[in-house]
Amino acid sequence: MRRAIGGVALMAFFGLVNCQQLKGNQDDPCQIKARVISDITYCDRYWECVNGQPELYDCPNGLVFAGKNRGVTEGCDYPWRSNYCDGKQQANPPIGTDHCDWLYGIFGHETSCTRYWTCWNGTATEQLCIGGLLYNERTHSCDWPENVDGCQKHPLCNDDPNGNVPLGKSCNRYWQCQGGYPRLQRCPAMLVFDRRSLRCVVPPTEDCDVPSTLPPPVQEDDLQENIPQNNPRNQHNFSNLPPGAIPIPSKGKPKN
Ligand SMILES: *[C@@H]1O[C@H](CO)[C@@H](O)[C@H](O)[C@H]1NC(C)=O
Ligand SMILES: *[C@@H]1O[C@H](CO)[C@@H](O)[C@H](O)[C@H]1NC(C)=O
Repeated sequence: MRRAIGGVALMAFFGLVNCQQLKGNQDDPCQIKARVISDITYCDRYWECVNGQPELYDCPNGLVFAGKNRGVTEGCDYPWRSNYCDGKQQANPPIGTDHCDWLYGIFGHETSCTRYWTCWNGTATEQLCIGGLLYNERTHSCDWPENVDGCQKHPLCNDDPNGNVPLGKSCNRYWQCQGGYPRLQRCPAMLVFDRRSLRCVVPPTEDCDVPSTLPPPVQEDDLQENIPQNNPRNQHNFSNLPPGAIPIPSKGKPKN
């Protein structure tokens, strides 16, 4: 990822001054022991002494300069881990890929409060918060539900705070919104979720054939995806489930 900025050939062609010259109060990395120093204007750039000459480098996209041998890679770190950018700007705009706002970083999940993405050079890896914790966008880590504002009430319930919402292309699972809080649900065996009527029906539907086998047993994974059980809001009350819905059993006893 590390690349030097500017090209000697390009500069020669346009006859520009060498834009890698140290400007203003910029310290010269060749004058210091570490041979590496942050740029005074941009927090995502740094100068390194290469063959006796100062060279300007970009941090990997999404990271900012932290110091030699610091940060997560190449002396660069996640911007939110310290005040690296106080009084400075970021020179580079985000380069996004699937699930990643920047090539490097930690980002919220699109449909789940207990999941998040870690991105490394644009490759996203799905992560899971366990033990009833939720992903906190502010601290970029798993946190107690009471510290995670606006997560449990999810935009996917905006249209109808008490409606059902398809879960991707799933024929079996769907979100049930209860007062704006999404809860993962599964249709009973042999029924499929109908995207039109938003309920579990006898197949086939337009999108779903008759299941060839019984649906798999509820996975540990599915339980984690739900909102944690120790939150009083989530005490189950099954009397208002839609026709055909079965709740996913809670794991463990609710705390009282
Ligand atoms: C990042 O990914 C690009 C292309 O996907 C690749 O060319 C490059 O070598 C990778 N960089 C690192 C540091 O892994
Ligand atoms: C569950 O909800 C229904 C209406 O949605 C209500 O009539 C009933 O009293 C509730 N039961 C409990 C145990 O809260």
